[in-house]
Amino acid sequence: MQQINSFEAYIKAYQNSIDNPEQFWDGVAHQFHWTKPWETTLEWNFTEPSIKWFAGGETNLCYNCIDRHLPTKANQTAIIFEPNNPDEEVRKLTYQELYIEVCKFANVLKSLGVNKGDRVCIYMPMVPEGAIAMLACARIGAIHSVVFAGFSATSLADRINDSECKILITADAVYRGDKLVALKNIVDEALANCPSIKNCIIYNNRNENINIVPNRDLWWHNLLVHISAENTAEPMDSEAPLFILYTSGSTGKPKGVLHTTAGYMIYVGYTFLNVFNYQPQEIFWCTADIGWVTGHSYLIYGPLLNGATTIMFEGVPNYPNAGRFWDVVDKHQVNIFYTAPTAIRALEAQGTQWFEGKDLSSLRVLGSVGEPINEEAWQWYHKNVGHSNCPIVDTWWQTETGGILISPIAGITPLKPAFATLPLPGVQPVLMDANGNEITENDVEGNLCIKFPWPGMSRTLYGDHERFRQTYYNTYKNYYFTGDGARRDHKGYYRITGRVDDVINVSGHRIGTGEVEDAINTHASVVESAVVGFPHDIKGQGICAFVIITTPQENLEQEIKETVSKIIGPFAKPDRIIIVPGLPKTRSGKIMRRILRKIAEGDISNLGDVSTLLDPGVVVEIRRLAGVFRGGI
Ligand code: WTA
Repeated sequence: MQQINSFEAYIKAYQNSIDNPEQFWDGVAHQFHWTKPWETTLEWNFTEPSIKWFAGGETNLCYNCIDRHLPTKANQTAIIFEPNNPDEEVRKLTYQELYIEVCKFANVLKSLGVNKGDRVCIYMPMVPEGAIAMLACARIGAIHSVVFAGFSATSLADRINDSECKILITADAVYRGDKLVALKNIVDEALANCPSIKNCIIYNNRNENINIVPNRDLWWHNLLVHISAENTAEPMDSEAPLFILYTSGSTGKPKGVLHTTAGYMIYVGYTFLNVFNYQPQEIFWCTADIGWVTGHSYLIYGPLLNGATTIMFEGVPNYPNAGRFWDVVDKHQVNIFYTAPTAIRALEAQGTQWFEGKDLSSLRVLGSVGEPINEEAWQWYHKNVGHSNCPIVDTWWQTETGGILISPIAGITPLKPAFATLPLPGVQPVLMDANGNEITENDVEGNLCIKFPWPGMSRTLYGDHERFRQTYYNTYKNYYFTGDGARRDHKGYYRITGRVDDVINVSGHRIGTGEVEDAINTHASVVESAVVGFPHDIKGQGICAFVIITTPQENLEQEIKETVSKIIGPFAKPDRIIIVPGLPKTRSGKIMRRILRKIAEGDISNLGDVSTLLDPGVVVEIRRLAGVFRGGI
């Protein structure tokens, strides 16, 4: 595939991709293997919205990730598995070995009656079998829905039921640091409420004693006995659904973001190669979990499409100590390291002694994703991890975009700390003003939209196209609205400032305020709640909940936090619960979150216009209870 090798080449490619988008993407698509060529490159309108790339063509993502490389790379390592416990064994799978495992597991799924278009839920730790399961689904044309294994039983069940998954693939248990998470117990609790699930396949990760439900539960290793390793990848229509990935929106119900086959494949393949400037033989390490889109696009599919070697790390950054990331970089001589600002800030807080004795000289490129990276963290990362000679690619994108949209090209785009810099070829970002018009000048701030399709974009929300239209294509007619705000500097560089909707970004995890409120409101003593984000030194944003209760009781704050942890997952636990007598509401009953946000931030000098409030007195009381009372409004 063509690789951009100079800034001039980037400018040229970008211009070409805007002037002749179809020709540009045709050129990229030709680098992949197709069983049937496409008839039209792009058909689109943003009103319905309806987007089709490479219509009429047939291809297979798994074939392009594995089979295509076998003639030249059969013995090259595809996946390096680094276990949670550094004393346990590293596993390496070559492309040939991965091919065999994926073919076998594809046959397992078929033998269980999984057909093209069926949904398969994957609730797995960060072990190669998670990747094998995803690739096997893609190979047979089943739609995978990976659910992050930190989600609770309730969240897992909601996601399984929304897309009526037929099979659930999981593991007995996993260690995260020194904590054992009994995945199968969570699964059992979830499956009590999931009528669509016919079978649950369990990978034996920890030899834990688990409950086996006869006729439903099957061990992964038993299914592999006597199974053929021959499997032909299913030719898939370009627009055939590839995967669903649930993400948070402003309301409680998670959205099943749907991606389709060819466009997603081409987009992640192209962006992986170019953003990281990947060179043959390099070792690539993305620390994201396969349960999030970064894990899909840049831990599995992007690297494998390019015949790269990718690391899957089961553990956490601070186990056995805060030097673990650097141990792994040293041990596997990692060349490209891609992580989240929250991890960088958490490690920064541990001091630089953790770098002592670690050889990080293999590193060539660093990446950041998931939330805005503040300048201090950027500088620390650049100096201590990159020894001031590795470019940092601050990659902005979303579950919905499939792949990176705005980012420097490693070693090529001049960097500016805390800026995601420039759009990748094919991407046409615009900033909108308060009246819904495009802002043409630079040095401005606005709401970030994209005005032309790119192949990796989501096509719909599973089972709810109307919600898809309303969420992304309704705020600004004929634009994809990202939900993010951004600043564009005098050179046209973008800096993403954060969400402008009711989504909070906690340690790079998107959490809907409505989702947390729904969870809090299930507590018997809660009357009503309102959740907002506030700046947090390590997590980027923390969660603050203002809660109205029936009667005061001991430990209620703790109980409410535990309720959220149980209903959504531990990562969504609020940092602060403030019990209040009332919430600031407009006369029409709408909660004014803007005011709560300011109070949670401790910024009460100017609460803005409170004249539309039903009862302005309630604000004075909330401020007092929040402990930030510093005089009258
Ligand atoms: C935020 C993760 C600033 C943003 C790939 C976006 C970022 C949301 C960046 C998507 C970045 C992601 N700089 N903010 N480099 N990358 N975001 O769907 O608010 O989990 O809308 O996808 O994360 O989160 P998601």
